[in-house]
Amino acid sequence: MSTPVVAVIGAGTMGHGIAYVAALAGCRVCLTDASSEQLARATQQIERAFDKAIEKGKCTTAQRNAALERLTTVASAEECAADATIVIEAIPERLDLKQRLFATLERVVSADALLASNTSSLSISEIAAPLAHPDRALGMHFFNPVPVMKLLEIVRGAATSEATVETARGFAALVGKEPIVVRDTPGFATSRLGVVLGLEAIRMLEQGVASAPDIDRALELGYNHPMGPLRLTDVVGLDVRLAIAEHLHTTLGGDTYRPPQLLRDKVVRGELGKKSGQGFYRWENER
Ligand SMILES: NC(=O)c1ccc[n+]([C@@H]2O[C@H](COP(=O)([O-])OP(=O)(O)OC[C@H]3O[C@@H](n4cnc5c(N)ncnc54)[C@H](O)[C@@H]3O)[C@@H](O)[C@H]2O)c1
Repeated sequence: MSTPVVAVIGAGTMGHGIAYVAALAGCRVCLTDASSEQLARATQQIERAFDKAIEKGKCTTAQRNAALERLTTVASAEECAADATIVIEAIPERLDLKQRLFATLERVVSADALLASNTSSLSISEIAAPLAHPDRALGMHFFNPVPVMKLLEIVRGAATSEATVETARGFAALVGKEPIVVRDTPGFATSRLGVVLGLEAIRMLEQGVASAPDIDRALELGYNHPMGPLRLTDVVGLDVRLAIAEHLHTTLGGDTYRPPQLLRDKVVRGELGKKSGQGFYRWENER
C-alpha cells in the first residue's frame, strides 16, 4: 500500500491524536475543525505530544520536525479532504452531523478514497446511507489517548467492501495499532462493554456507595484496570459518554444504558471532564 494521504475532520480530543499518529507514521495529514479556536489548540496539543514523545525517547527531534512539516491545517472540511486517500471524521457523536459530513465529503474526494468514522457507537451503515458508494465507508474507532492506546476497532457496515477493510488493516499496521474487525452493531465490541462500567460507577456515586477516588481504586486495584471508570469518563468527555449512552439506551433497550441523572446534570453545568477542567475530578492545566 502506498503511504496514505490522511484528512482528519474534527480536531478535538480524538482528532488531534489521530492526526498526530498519522503524521508520525509518515502520512501527509490535513486537519480541520469547525472551530478555529479548537484548531489552533489542537496544533498546540500535537506539538506538546511530540515534546512528550521526545522526552520519553519515543521520537527524535528530526522525526518531530518532519512530522510537523507533513501536517497542515485548513478551515474547511472539503478543502481538507480533497487530496486524501483516507478521511477520518472525529466530529461529535450525532448521526445527523456525521451523515451530512460524509455526503458533503463524497462530492470532493477521489473515487477510491475511504470515508472512516471514529464513532464510538453509531451505525456505520446509517452514517453511510446518504453515500452513492457506501462500500468505501467504515468505522475506524481509535481509543483515547490515541498515541498510547493500541486498539483500532474496524467496523464493517452492511455495504463496506472487503477492499475497504483491508486498506484499514494496512493503515492500522502503519500507525502501530492492533486491529479487530467488528460487525456494525450498537456500541460495537468496545463501547458496548466499557460504557456499562462507566454508567454503573456514576450510579454508585449517586447512591453514595463510595467516593469517586475509591470507586476508581476498586477497579484499579481490585481488577487491575489501568484507570478507574470515573476518571476514564473524565478523560473521554462526559458529553461524549452521554451521547453514547443515549444511543445505546435507545437501540439496545432495557435499563443498562439509561443515562444516570448525575451525568446529565454535569453535562448541563458544562462539567465535561478533562477538556473543560472539571468532571468527577478537577483537572488543572491539563487542557
Ligand atoms: N473522547 C473519547 O474518548 C472518544 C474515544 C473514541 C471515539 N470517540 C468518538 O470520536 C468522535 C469525536 O469525539 P471527541 O471526544 O474528539 O469530541 P470533541 O468534542 O473533543 O471534538 C469534536 C470536534 O469536532 C468539531 N466539529 C463539530 N462539527 C464539526 C464539523 N461539521 N466539521 C468539523 N469539525 C466539527 C468540534 O468543534 C470539536 O472540536 C465522537 O464520535 C466520539 O464518540 C471519542
